[in-house]
Amino acid sequence: MSWVDVGPLAGLPARGARVVTVHGESIAVFRTGEGRVFALRDRCPHRGGPLSQGIVHGERVTCPLHDWVIDLATGQATGADRGCTQTFEVRVEADRVLIAVAPTATAAGAKGPCTGDVENASGGAPGDAGRVLAVFERA
Ligand code: FES
Repeated sequence: MSWVDVGPLAGLPARGARVVTVHGESIAVFRTGEGRVFALRDRCPHRGGPLSQGIVHGERVTCPLHDWVIDLATGQATGADRGCTQTFEVRVEADRVLIAVAPTATAAGAKGPCTGDVENASGGAPGDAGRVLAVFERA
């Protein structure tokens, strides 16, 4: 596992998200209104919607397609919905946002039990939406 610099904290809007691509995987990096930062695979566990385009409220995001609410810390769907999205460890160092990923496969760098599999992936596709930032590997 390695830490990948995905850009400055200042480039991440409060209650918003940016999409970064690491090893071909679209990862949504969120910043809450309270300044906490989370990283999740940019695919809703329902039908693969782009969570990066959802509405951030508290430490949750509401998917823009069918309003499932996903916990940013665990990647788990909340309420009556069932499913989870892969999450990644995040740290902020010297105003840079770093996420933990495996050298060649993001799944190995994920935290928690969720593999990020989408039960019914007919809705969206990875990389469908969002802005892609440059990703710099740390030396
Ligand atoms: S609620 Fe996210 S794809 Fe349906």
